[in-house]
Parts: sequence; structure tokens; C-alpha cells
Amino acid sequence: MKICCIGAGYVGGPTMAVIAHKCPHIKVTAVDIDAERIAAWNSDNLPIFEPGLKEIVEQVRGKNLFYSTDVDSGIREADIIFVSVPTPTKTYGIGNGRAADLKYVERCARHIAKAAQSDKIIVEKSTVPVRTADVIKRILDESDTSVNFQVLSNPEFLAEGTGIHDLENPDRVLIGGEETEAGQKAVQTVASIYAQWIPRDKILTTNLWSSELSKLVANAFLAQRISSINSISALCEATGADVGEVAMAIGKDSRIGPKFLQSSVGFGGSCFQKDILNLVYLCEAFGLSEVAEYWLKVVSMNDYQKSRFSRCIVNKLFNTVSDKRIAIFGFAFKKDTNDTRESPGIYVCRDLLEEQANLAIYDPKVPSEQILSDLNGNLDSDGKYGDASIEIAEDAYAAAEGAHAIAVLTEWDEFSGLDYERIYLSMRKPSFIFDGRNLLDLAKLRQIGFDVYGIGKSLPAL
Ligand code: NAD
Ligand code: UGA
Repeated sequence: MKICCIGAGYVGGPTMAVIAHKCPHIKVTAVDIDAERIAAWNSDNLPIFEPGLKEIVEQVRGKNLFYSTDVDSGIREADIIFVSVPTPTKTYGIGNGRAADLKYVERCARHIAKAAQSDKIIVEKSTVPVRTADVIKRILDESDTSVNFQVLSNPEFLAEGTGIHDLENPDRVLIGGEETEAGQKAVQTVASIYAQWIPRDKILTTNLWSSELSKLVANAFLAQRISSINSISALCEATGADVGEVAMAIGKDSRIGPKFLQSSVGFGGSCFQKDILNLVYLCEAFGLSEVAEYWLKVVSMNDYQKSRFSRCIVNKLFNTVSDKRIAIFGFAFKKDTNDTRESPGIYVCRDLLEEQANLAIYDPKVPSEQILSDLNGNLDSDGKYGDASIEIAEDAYAAAEGAHAIAVLTEWDEFSGLDYERIYLSMRKPSFIFDGRNLLDLAKLRQIGFDVYGIGKSLPAL
């Protein structure tokens, strides 16, 4: 059996590596139009940082795993083609700011229609609006070849930072297909790949539309939990309750459960916001305005949380951060990834730059060019950014040196193990820490002499 995946990004790259690793009898090729990305996949410096990924790629690359820019050959050779291309929020025209932009998916369908010379199973791996499989099928069926196509939905549920673990031990795999005999046969073919390492009872099969919709709904529910606990964090700060204690107390209720109740500076990542906006757009399109409004609140609560954090920094620093040095600990949207898409760090840093702060940013995995491009950096040669400035620091100590405040924006493990006495001595006084991830021991930091702020914590006066 031969598999091809169109799109070697955060999903396609690791997913294909794990399939190749678990199924040595299958030839797996991930193809991409981004030649630089493919070159990186074929080098020692992979384009994606994900714990455990490099080890797997090194074991199977060149044996039964290949990364290539030759999309035509990838399509022609394969029996099964996964489509794992971006489905970002549209930034133009009808549905601007809400709808999913399906141009990449459609381009893939047209490319497959043109290049395919034998029957294929096409698997939607990208997250798509309900009934996208119809669009793909229409395009494929219009092609003038005599080739037969089956279109399946197999959304991906991995989270970045734990992607390899999630792919190796998923809670479930979901495969949706047409209820015809050929459709069900295709579902079983794809299920048999996952069954090489995943128990059969975790491989769920549904109709196409349930599968497509379940992916959007899973992300909406997860994001909703974060917005819910973040809304309560504001109330905790106003009342003297502690959001960590509240999360612990409610999470013990087995009906609620403890996961995804970590209050934070806000959720980021390429998917939660876009997938909720996609859901909102779908609801609006079907005239369900109350349902749309309900889910939109999850996004607006997240925007509120991010700007609440920036406002708190300005407010505590005596209502001005102009010309003050602020150390930013972490820029990735969560730990253990180099991905910054929709990172709350981008929004908080932009707010502080707007207030004319001088930022010293340190992240263990995000390249400096990425940080500067995310902040739309038109830096002068002396590092100035209008009335503000950005410096990319080589470690947390360098970032904090001479700073008025530290803002922890990503929960990298290394930030909890730093020598905060040393950091305190190197900073301006009074020295502030704003912990946007509730990662640090605020009581200890207070003993050292810091002024501390944690999300959803209202600390008693000293
Ligand atoms: P990504 O941007 O990292 O990767 C997509 C890749 O597709 C890019 O490398 C791009 O060059 C390539 N591409 C685009 N058009 C192409 C074409 N016509 N031919 C060949 N290659 C093409 O995106 P991602 O994070 O991997 O997300 C892909 C999809 O998976 C999205 O729909 C996303 O919602 C979904 N998803 C993402 C995650 C995640 O953790 N990132 C998790 C679950 C689902
Ligand atoms: C999320 C989902 O968890 C995956 O199941 C899904 O496949 C993926 O989106 C997707 O469709 O792209 P991901 O965004 O990679 O995965 O990472 P998460 O662990 O979900 O974190 C998302 C954001 O929420 C991060 O900024 C994280 O810091 C934040 N978060 C998470 C919290 O603020 N509190 C929590 O309790 C959990």
C-alpha cells in the first residue's frame, strides 16, 4: 500500500512519520509545494519542533518515509491521499474574518483530479466546514479520467507539544465515509492502517457530516472550557478566591473533570479561534443566529483575557510602561512547540509596544525572525520600533537584566527552575512579575522581594 499526504506541516509531517513508523510495510510520502519546508524535513534541522518527532523521522526517513516537492508523482503513486493543507479564516470577501478559506483544499482536489491515473481514497485531514467532502467529490467526479474516488473525513485531534504521544495513543480516531458499499470499504481500508497500533474500539466510524462537524465541535468545547475558567479568573481577582483552587474543586466532579481548566493569559494556536469562527459562520449561514452568538462569546472572552493581562501590566507599573524594559518569558502559544500562530504573546507584546515599552523577548524554541515578523517588526538598525524597541534575548537572565518587569507568557518548564534571587538582583526596583500561566511560586517570589501578579489570584496585602 502507498500513502501520500499533501501538506507537510504541523499535522501532515508528524502524522505521516508516525504512520510510517508503525506500518513498515506501507510507503509513505509527504509532499508540499514549500521547497524550503521539504528541504528541512530532509535535513537534521526539522521545520517543526515536537518532542519525540526527530527520533521517529530519523528511524524511518529514506526507508518507508519520504518528503518531496513532487506532488504529481506523490498523487499518481498513492492508493490513499491525505489532504492536510491549511484552512485559515478568510481575510477577504464573503465571510471575511469568519468563514474557512477553502482555496487550498480546492486546489488539492483539482490537482488530484488532474494527476490521478488510478482509483484513490481521498482523506480530508484538514479541519473543514461541514459538507466540504461534497465539494471535493464534485471536483473529482468532474475530471475526465475514468478513475474512481472515495472521499473520507478523518480529522486530526493531536495537540502541538504532545503531538507524537497523541498520534501514538489517541483517545479516538474518527473516520467518516459515505454509507454506500464502496464508501464503507474505503472506511475499513483506512481503519486498517490505524489498527496497526490503535485498539479497534478506539477507531470510530460515522457518516461524513458527523465526522466533519465533530472536529469543529471538539475544538469549540475545549476552547469553551478555557474561556469559562478565564472568565472566572477575573471574578477571582475581584473577590479573593483563587482560580487554581476553584478549578481543582470543580474538576474533582467527575462530570466536569480536571483537564483544560488551567486559567491563562488566553488560548492561542492556529485552530481554536479559526475553528470556532468557522462554526459561527456555519450557524449564521443556516440562520441559527442565537447559536452563532453563543459560540462567538468564547472568542470574545479570550480577546478580553489577553487585553486584560496587558492592561494589568500597564496599570501595576504606575500606569505607564513608556521607555520601561519588560522581559517577556516565552513567545510560543504553548510550551514544547516552536509554533507562534495566534499566540497570546503576539497580542500582549503588541499592546505593550503600543504603550512604548522596550521589550526583551526570550523563547527557547522560537527563532528571532519569527518573533520579529509576528510583531510586524519594522525595526530601525538600532532596534527601535517607533517609540518602543524589541530585543531578542539569548536567555531568560539576559532578558530580565535591568528590566522593570517580567511577563511570563508561555509555560516552558525552564521558567519555573530559574534562579529568581539572581534575577531579582539584576532588575530595576520595584521589580514586578506577571505570571500569565500560573507557573511560578508567587509566595516564594514575594519573599525574594518581587511584586507579583498571577491570573485569577488576589494575594493578600503584605
Ligand atoms: P501548516 O500550515 O503547518 O501546513 C500545511 C502545509 O500545506 C504547508 O506546508 C503548505 O505549504 C502546504 N500546502 C498548501 N497548499 C498546498 C498544495 N496545494 N499542495 C501541496 N502542499 C500545500 O498547517 P497545519 O497546522 O498542519 O494544519 C493543517 C490542517 O490541519 C488545518 O486544517 C488545521 O486546522 C488542521 N489541524 C491542525 C492541527 C495543529 O495542531 N496544527 C491539529 C489538528 C488539525
Ligand atoms: C488543540 C486541541 O487540543 C487539539 O485536540 C486539536 O487537534 C488542535 O487544537 C487543532 O485542531 O489544531 P493545540 O492548539 O495544539 O491543540 O494545543 P492545546 O493544548 O489545545 O492548547 C491550545 C491553547 O490553549 C494554548 O495556548 C494553551 O496554552 C491554552 N490552554 C490549554 C489553556 O490556556 N488552558 C488549558 O487548560 C489548556
